[in-house]
Amino acid sequence: MSLLKVGVIGAGTMGSGIAQVAATAEHFVVLVDAFPDALNKGKDSILKSLKKQVEKAVITQETSDAILNRIEFAEDVNSLFGCGLIIEAIIENIGVKQTLFAQLESIVADDCILATNTSSLSVVSIASICKKPERVIGIHFFNPAQVMPLVELIPALTTDESMLHQTKSIIDSWGKKTVIAKDTPGFIVNRIARPFYGEAIRLYEEGAADFATIDWAMKEFGKFRMGPFELMDFIGNDINFKVTETIFEQFFYDPRYKPSFTQKRLYEAKRFGRKTGRGYYDYSPNAIVPQPVMDKELGEGIFQRIIAMLINEAIDALFLNIATRDDIDLAMTKGVNYPKGLLRWADEMGLQNVLNTLENLQSEYGEDRYRPSALLKRMVREGKTFY
Ligand SMILES: NC(=O)c1ccc[n+]([C@@H]2O[C@H](COP(=O)([O-])OP(=O)(O)OC[C@H]3O[C@@H](n4cnc5c(N)ncnc54)[C@H](O)[C@@H]3O)[C@@H](O)[C@H]2O)c1
Repeated sequence: MSLLKVGVIGAGTMGSGIAQVAATAEHFVVLVDAFPDALNKGKDSILKSLKKQVEKAVITQETSDAILNRIEFAEDVNSLFGCGLIIEAIIENIGVKQTLFAQLESIVADDCILATNTSSLSVVSIASICKKPERVIGIHFFNPAQVMPLVELIPALTTDESMLHQTKSIIDSWGKKTVIAKDTPGFIVNRIARPFYGEAIRLYEEGAADFATIDWAMKEFGKFRMGPFELMDFIGNDINFKVTETIFEQFFYDPRYKPSFTQKRLYEAKRFGRKTGRGYYDYSPNAIVPQPVMDKELGEGIFQRIIAMLINEAIDALFLNIATRDDIDLAMTKGVNYPKGLLRWADEMGLQNVLNTLENLQSEYGEDRYRPSALLKRMVREGKTFY
């Protein structure tokens, strides 16, 4: 069977990475962008990424040339004629995405899978514009797509089961780890990871500790590769703040996902992080690097509070059937490099211990953000574990 021709729309950060992944898996790829400059930038970034792989001897120069030769760069969406799978990675705007999907249906055959890489829009809101919504699905890659192993697959309310199976077998064949998520805000990773940022900022706002100490605590006691503030500065506070805000709105303002003024002010001041030279930290050449207060009791307390909140999110996602136990744990280790799956971590820490931390916080603050998941309470009552 010959491999499908794959179309990718949007040659930005995500689209260029996805095109590279598909071409590396030997598909012929058409990468479309409405703007010639963006197309050139996309091509440059693929070239740069391939060059790095050749230098590291991951691939040969011949393989790199072959990958690039399999990618056609085009400005016109009509070039997508003949594709069997199209992945859209354009601007995060529902109106623009819907217009594009409606247009795509008049170009491709009836059995072409139409996918969106959206991070924050509902997949069904995009599918609903299509004449054949059953072939529309979410395929959510992580940045950089050519490096991060995780891909979340999101069947919408209208997606045909066979489309999900077909999509899964294609993306699996690209060497990616796929997990299946319900079409709900943030899918798996962006939903469960919220307290890593939100609770860390809350601790800072209360004056419990400074950025450097909170970052140190999460690395020292949780073995996270980066602390929350380092990570937000790395992702960009513009992106991280917008994701937080969108998720809060889409959850009908559930207080658990409430954004913070600290990050909003940083966003307004354009202190986006590494890319602007300043975020929570100052990245200018002569900046003084702040040192953490390495107090064991303080550090463990910080870690306990943030990890309990993360575990609670993971348990609630399982409770609400957002994904399976294994997919939830796989998603957090492969999508955001957590040192352990959160449900496995919950077992190791003891569910009673996690519940105690949350109940103490809830009784201290009287805030709904600390409410323990019903599943956590139930499992403690029944003496159960996740594994
Ligand atoms: N950046 C991330 O970390 C990340 C991660 C996962 C998913 N996403 C999602 O992927 C999508 C793309 O994000 P990005 O960060 O790559 O954005 P980006 O701004 O880097 O790239 C978007 C590209 O789409 C092009 N474009 C805009 N409108 C178009 C149209 N109508 N037709 C064709 N091309 C058009 C732009 O010229 C640009 O090159 C968004 O839906 C975003 O939510 C982003």
